[in-house]
Amino acid sequence: MNWLTPPSTGQHYLKQRRSPSVSLLTQTELQTSLFTLHNKTMATAGKVIKCHAAVAWKPNAPLVIEEIEVAPPQKHEIRIKVIATGVCHTDLYHLFEGKHEEGFPAVLGHEGAGIVESVGPGVTDFKPGDTVIPLFISQCGECRFCKHPKSNMCERSWTTLSTGIMAEKDSRFTCRGKVIFQFMGTSTFSEYTVLNQISVAKICDDARLDRVCLLGCGVATGYGAAINTAQVTRGSVCAVFGLGGVGLAAVMGCRNAGASRIIGVDINEDKFGKARALGATDCVNPKKHSKPISEVLSEMTNGGVDFSLECVGNVAVMRSALESCVRGWGVSVMVGWTDLDDFSARPIQLIAGKTWKGSLFGGFKGKDAVPKLVLDYKSGRINLDEFVTHTMPLDKVNDSIELMKTGKCIRTVLNVSPK
Ligand code: APR
Ligand code: ZN
Ligand code: ZN
Repeated sequence: MNWLTPPSTGQHYLKQRRSPSVSLLTQTELQTSLFTLHNKTMATAGKVIKCHAAVAWKPNAPLVIEEIEVAPPQKHEIRIKVIATGVCHTDLYHLFEGKHEEGFPAVLGHEGAGIVESVGPGVTDFKPGDTVIPLFISQCGECRFCKHPKSNMCERSWTTLSTGIMAEKDSRFTCRGKVIFQFMGTSTFSEYTVLNQISVAKICDDARLDRVCLLGCGVATGYGAAINTAQVTRGSVCAVFGLGGVGLAAVMGCRNAGASRIIGVDINEDKFGKARALGATDCVNPKKHSKPISEVLSEMTNGGVDFSLECVGNVAVMRSALESCVRGWGVSVMVGWTDLDDFSARPIQLIAGKTWKGSLFGGFKGKDAVPKLVLDYKSGRINLDEFVTHTMPLDKVNDSIELMKTGKCIRTVLNVSPK
């Protein structure tokens, strides 16, 4: 199918889209495909594109595959053809848990990879045909946070501007006459999306997009939390709470940092196999113990772990993770996302010398770090294949949400667009 002229009925379109993703192409085929894309691009540049997207019209309801209009990129913006996207728990959080009713209607998805279709005026970093990963935290390079070596909290991110609704209202999407917000500024559950160039990382052209899309959130988030935020040290003892995509990436980060012991903690024992494959040396189910999990870990480790990482997004688990650290030097990092409740702990936990900190997107400055993480995947230093338990087309997005809700997957990758 010609992706420039999507047919009017979703049915016909969906039958045609089950083609192999870019990831399966040889280098020559990829170059030919990019050349073709470049030529097609000339035809769509500056025009509204009609394409399919999964629209979240309201909270607690299934997503609906709709034909949406995607406006041309404005000043400093680029329009991206999304090839693949992962489904992360934060998408589910917005839909079911977060209570941000003002953040709808929206197109969810923030773990994508794609190819630049066209660029707006003033774009210097990208050209049509470039391979890219959208970033939910931008890197403008100019604000004080971008300039500070210790932070990735760019002032120009949606995280700074609109965390209250978790979405960008100044959207380039419309559907049935309504503006559709861009969840986390990215909206990768759409065949096309538009972002400011400060919120996009350019990566090498031959990466498997149905794998490296996971570097747009989950894997970078967990991996960076261990490497950058906790700064796990060689020979240390670590505990990772929650063994979904984010937690497993934290396990991999602890392993790559040289931890001697990595204890995976999850209430779903189905996650233990993957955790061991990625480096966990022990796995513990808190439900199988009558004592608090912090006491169990303390007994296992002679007084507590050196580093703990909370990858669930639950304030009670955050507290347990802190209490599981050894006094004197233990470091606990909050990674899971929640803005529903306050957290609490006894002051003695910190007075006794523990450190409690958090990180967003693993502390990575996205434009700089994501291209390097892609190279780490290509060299085998980072494993992404282990995370992908399911692959399906965009129109099955509700099935992928169900899989995550019921704990039956690590990551589903949605093949969003045909090549
Ligand atoms: N103790 C330990 N593990 C738990 C607990 C608990 N009390 N409650 C849930 N879990 C486990 C689940 O069984 C699951 O394996 O946490 C894991 C969460 O994994 P996913 O649902 O796959 O979520 P993931 O995409 O990894 O995201 C985790 O990071 O980015 C944020 O919003 C995201 O807060 C979420 C967190
Ligand atoms: Zn900035
Ligand atoms: Zn995410």
